[in-house]
Amino acid sequence: MSPKSIYHCIQGELADLEKSASLRTVPEVDNGADRYLRFKGEDLLNLASNDYLGLAGDSVLKEGATDAVAKYGCGAAASRLVTGNFGIYDQLEKELAEFHNREDSMVFSSGYAANLAIMDAFADKKTVVFSDKLNHASILDGIRMSGARQVRYRHNDMEHLEKRMADHADCDSRILITDTIFSMDGDLAHMEHIADLCDRYDTMLVVDEAHAEGVFGQGRGLCREMGVSDRVDLHMGAFSKGLGSMGGAVSGRRELVSYLRNRGRSFVFSTALPPAVIGASLAALRLVRSDDSRGRRLLEMSRELKLYLESLGFDCGMTQSQIIPVILGDNERTLGAQKFLLTKGLYVAAIRPPTVPPNTARLRLSMRADFTRTDIDLIRMAFEALKEEFL
Ligand SMILES: Cc1ncc(COP(=O)(O)O)c(C=O)c1O
Repeated sequence: MSPKSIYHCIQGELADLEKSASLRTVPEVDNGADRYLRFKGEDLLNLASNDYLGLAGDSVLKEGATDAVAKYGCGAAASRLVTGNFGIYDQLEKELAEFHNREDSMVFSSGYAANLAIMDAFADKKTVVFSDKLNHASILDGIRMSGARQVRYRHNDMEHLEKRMADHADCDSRILITDTIFSMDGDLAHMEHIADLCDRYDTMLVVDEAHAEGVFGQGRGLCREMGVSDRVDLHMGAFSKGLGSMGGAVSGRRELVSYLRNRGRSFVFSTALPPAVIGASLAALRLVRSDDSRGRRLLEMSRELKLYLESLGFDCGMTQSQIIPVILGDNERTLGAQKFLLTKGLYVAAIRPPTVPPNTARLRLSMRADFTRTDIDLIRMAFEALKEEFL
């Protein structure tokens, strides 16, 4: 294809995206991790970030970051395996492994990079990977890049999963990977049932706890909450959401983590995170370890709001977490609802296909532990008005 025809194709595709209300643009948001963000000159209640515990702006994290900058400077300047290492990096991994009661932990530049590395290291074209249909894109990309055979099962459908596992029982190498909290639906993976099936079919179990960390299981994730963490082979998590910082992490048996350090290309061939990020992550980890009340408060508040929205007639799917979808179906309707809520003081994300399945466009409400009673009242009033306008 000549550059000119590539350009024409792209123009056509962009026009199609615009026509179907699917074109993505970066919003003009400022202070996007604060409880109130700034959008087009207005201060709006932030229901769109993943800063579930409200830690991104916490003074303890800021201090952790600035202390690390003062001691180590701004950049890591090399991959961890070369010279991009610092005492606080090792300290963070040590404390993380203790927190999860695992032999070892390692930190990645993002959760996305962690999922790529897991698949890169442990799967190849002889591997079958069982994957929930609603797993995060980084998991799908990792599987695709590894060349493994992806066997998807219907979302949270344990009968379907068992059938799939039985169909592939004679394969040499099997991995199951699942989000524990599904990022666009807020519902929970059936971890006990999944762990049983992995035992029965001798399958390596990998969990992505990106949205559960800091919130469930005294901050340690859903597997801890459900009492199955000892049955998980690799626990992947992220500092970028509930913990208010940045970076992915994987915890597990020493040999597995050591293998990842050697075989995970997104780790080997990428510059380490800067010291400020590590300082903030370490502060966040210590904070959550010493006080898990934020997560409990968040879940309580989320449960109440979900019940209220359902009582108004909104479809909140199967959520049992701090992520509350309000499923409206149609793209235009969802964008209209998002715009309407702006006029009521709320900033909410509108999520459309392909991020979610066709005809399930939705508002995604991301709750925060630092919401006040007044904030919750504002949300309630805005949705009461939305009901009048839309339902
Ligand atoms: C379930 C899940 N896993 C992994 C990631 C990637 O994490 P990060 O944003 O740190 O790259 C995300 C981010 O949205 C996610 O939702």
